Amino acid sequence: MATYTIRGGRPLHGRLSVSGAKNAAIPILLASTVAGGTCAVRNVPELSDVAAVADLLRHLGARVGPGYTIEPTLTTSAIPAALAGRLRMSVILLGPLLARFGEASTASPGGCDIGDRPIDFHLAGLRAMGARIEEAGDRIVCRADRLRGAEIALPMPSVGATHHMMLAGTLADGMTVIRNAAREPEVVQLADFLNAMGARIAGAGTPTVLIHGVTGLGGADLTLIPDRIEAGTYLLAAAAAGGDVTVDGARPDHLAALLEVLGRGGCDLAVAPGAVRLRASGRPQPVDITTDPFPGFPTDLQSPALAWLLRATGTCRIVDTVFPDRFGVVGELGKLGAQVQIEPGYATITGVPGLRGATLKAAPDLRGAAALLIAALAADGESTIGGADALARGYQCLDQRLRALGADIATRA
Ligand code: EPU
Repeated sequence: MATYTIRGGRPLHGRLSVSGAKNAAIPILLASTVAGGTCAVRNVPELSDVAAVADLLRHLGARVGPGYTIEPTLTTSAIPAALAGRLRMSVILLGPLLARFGEASTASPGGCDIGDRPIDFHLAGLRAMGARIEEAGDRIVCRADRLRGAEIALPMPSVGATHHMMLAGTLADGMTVIRNAAREPEVVQLADFLNAMGARIAGAGTPTVLIHGVTGLGGADLTLIPDRIEAGTYLLAAAAAGGDVTVDGARPDHLAALLEVLGRGGCDLAVAPGAVRLRASGRPQPVDITTDPFPGFPTDLQSPALAWLLRATGTCRIVDTVFPDRFGVVGELGKLGAQVQIEPGYATITGVPGLRGATLKAAPDLRGAAALLIAALAADGESTIGGADALARGYQCLDQRLRALGADIATRA
């Protein structure tokens, strides 16, 4: 288990580039299962979650070559529990596998421990498209001779359910309409990838997505968008530790809600089409944050932002409307001297003048682990973070990149 030792209280200086987006890579690599030819996905980040996708595709019979060239030569539609447990997004394969094999099965999906994460929207959508679904013990078995287009109104703009219904609708007979669809940039890029194969999807990025089913698809070649959550994490690290950092590849149009909050917190921002520069010193001004589906403030930056605001010059309230229980990291942050009160759905931070180093343990929650690291960078003295491998799920070479900015981080495997 990797441990980071961090000597905090040092400002960060310099520039770094963001990787391809994890949350675009995962559904797009999985979407190669609907292709009728070779797919090439470029700018794929080297992350343990991406390795889990490659293992899953290989299990299904696909050939995953160097540089993420994928031949969708599928031989099975059964997802074993061990692979489903490594990757929550594996559930979006049910529709594509059902369309190709007439039957598909999986176990309850895994993922970060960030509160309740049901898959009822996914199953209701497949049922509306004509699937028969049995849940026997831990296994979910779906059957359908053909999927047929349907009108699907999502109770919440779920990212995964929007991905899933676009994939299933592409291979269904007739037209599928997704209402209250997620509008995240990763949804738009998945639609672009499918359309490049020959799908007919319109409206991705708006609340209503229209999908005309097609009878066959080809291959596609696509370069992933930059990771807006990784970019945001580096900006928040610089805001917390102070300094002058430029994040190359960061797209301001994907980060507008975060940039607005950083500005209100007293950071000095300079924005160009492909880069964001942040300068910060001293304690942040207090700000309140409410997470929302895109274009709102992303839930994936909620814990990192909370870590930045621990030293605010007043009181801040953070509401997570997407995952109301995503405050599991607060207990560990208390060891640094943070003062945070949790109520159902929100946290109240009473800013403290300074944090002091402590021995910390990252839970299996990627963004919570990022929050610990940010707080440790801002704290005086030495901190250790056990279980730091949680960070490898979503951040490529995080320790090296922060060291290049002047952070004092030692890594022990
Ligand atoms: N929901 C349901 N039923 C469902 C599906 C979702 O009630 O069938 C609820 C969830 O419980 C949650 C809300 O809908 O309250 C939104 O969840 P969503 O389906 O949008 O989440 P997801 O697709 O499982 C993706 C990201 C997450 C990110 C969320 C929200 C990927 C691989 N994962 O998850 O990313 O937090 O969207 O933006 O794209 C991360 O990167 O650390 C991460 C957890």
